[in-house]
Amino acid sequence: MKFSKNILCIGAGYVGGPTMAMIALKCPEYKVTVVDVNEERIGRWNSDDLPIYEPGLLEAVRAARGKNLFFSTAIPEGIRAADIIFVSVNTPTKTFGLGAGMASDLQYWEKTAHQIVSHSDRPKIIVEKSTLPVRTAEAMERILKENKKNIRFDVVSNPEFLAEGSAVNDLLSPDRVLIGSQQTESGAQAAQVIADIYAHWVPADKIITTNLWSAELSKLVANAFLAQRISSINAISALCEKTDADVSEISFAVGSDTRIGSRFISASIGFGGSCFKKDILNLVYICRSYGLNEVADYWEKVVQMNEYQQERFVKKIIKEMFNTIVAKKIVLLGFAFKANTGDTRESPGIPVAKKLLAERASLVICDPQALENARRELAGLDGDVRYEADPYRAVIDAHAIAVITEWDVFKELDFEKVFSVMQKPAFVFDGRNILDHQRLFQIGFNVFPLGKPSLTHF
Ligand code: UDX
Ligand code: UDX
Repeated sequence: MKFSKNILCIGAGYVGGPTMAMIALKCPEYKVTVVDVNEERIGRWNSDDLPIYEPGLLEAVRAARGKNLFFSTAIPEGIRAADIIFVSVNTPTKTFGLGAGMASDLQYWEKTAHQIVSHSDRPKIIVEKSTLPVRTAEAMERILKENKKNIRFDVVSNPEFLAEGSAVNDLLSPDRVLIGSQQTESGAQAAQVIADIYAHWVPADKIITTNLWSAELSKLVANAFLAQRISSINAISALCEKTDADVSEISFAVGSDTRIGSRFISASIGFGGSCFKKDILNLVYICRSYGLNEVADYWEKVVQMNEYQQERFVKKIIKEMFNTIVAKKIVLLGFAFKANTGDTRESPGIPVAKKLLAERASLVICDPQALENARRELAGLDGDVRYEADPYRAVIDAHAIAVITEWDVFKELDFEKVFSVMQKPAFVFDGRNILDHQRLFQIGFNVFPLGKPSLTHF
């Protein structure tokens, strides 16, 4: 079959894979190829054992794979054939040198830009999908333009707003698609080509075009605002625990104000995921680099509050379990950073597990999707950790349960059965406020919700 356009995506991760599957599904006349340096990952994209878990993703991939969706490690060939290249390689927080712990590590992005130049022989549109610090496109354009071949590359920023666990739905009906380009004729044309892709299924009024820098910055700001809401309610959860107010009632009452809205104000043991912390720290770094220290401090507090919330959770477990958890069996219900994903990047489960192990607790990690990643995250740590997919087996002889992830399966457990096999007194620390606390208390548990009065039999 002759395709009208060749689209390439470099980076077959959480963003690149699902986004390209959706484009392929909705644009059968385009050929979509996803390449990655990681052979094993590509192998899995070509199988039914996809490298990431996302509801609905396997069906979407199966519907397009082999027709107009291809996964491959042939990066140079892919670049040569492409009209449009989405770059979706990872941009983690730098762990070394200038800006360590704050700035984005752009080495993969830069390497990719050089690869694009060396394997291209005609003009292409390059789309930034990875979240990048403002003005990265400028640097990329420089690298791309400094080519002796005199090829024109138009760089467009098209940040991804999908959330894990709901990626397929978010891609199907996005709140908006943002496309930033240079305010020149060729920049506008490039933006239009990208808008045409999305126009196959996204209503025109949801496709927003802006200048390049606004698009880049909007992604950081959107994530910073969302995370800020979570830190705000988490700060209030600490106050609630001192005052007998109930943070869920406050979320409901406050969120009923349509100006505030009800989403992203559920108290938790803290936000995780690959984006929030990284993007805020990046924003902080950018502000500091422009000498805007007050602005930087303001946003940095959002991350500090998140760490405080995780610490508070562990301190509460230790205090309520009579100030020692040595050799006590504690079951972490969930390890993914949120429900419906197997992703554990920046999961609050990680610091919680590390702190509990440092206190010499004996841990059982239970998660329906994230055990493989949990093992990797905790590899090499000293201490007693077991991994168990079946919650009923996990809780045998346990002293305490700590809810880390809001999976539905945990809400539906038969807690009478759970209680019967646990040590007594039995404790529940609900880091997501998903369980029926009154019911647990009636069964006999000592219950410690977040931001609500504790229910104890002592
Ligand atoms: C990534 C970025 O982390 C995020 O900032 C951005 O918003 C979207 O892209 P994600 O898809 O979650 O997010 O990253 P990850 O799952 O790590 O996937 C990146 C892929 O790029 C990996 O499979 C990696 O092997 C690949 N890669 C990385 C390359 O193919 N080439 C490289 O040079 C570097
Ligand atoms: C986020 C953004 O939502 C998305 O637009 C962007 O593209 C990538 O970053 P993601 O990290 O996948 O997506 O998940 P999200 O649903 O935003 O949740 C992030 C974290 O916040 C999770 O740990 C979640 O459990 C937590 N959270 C969310 C809360 O603690 N309380 C809430 O009310 C909402």
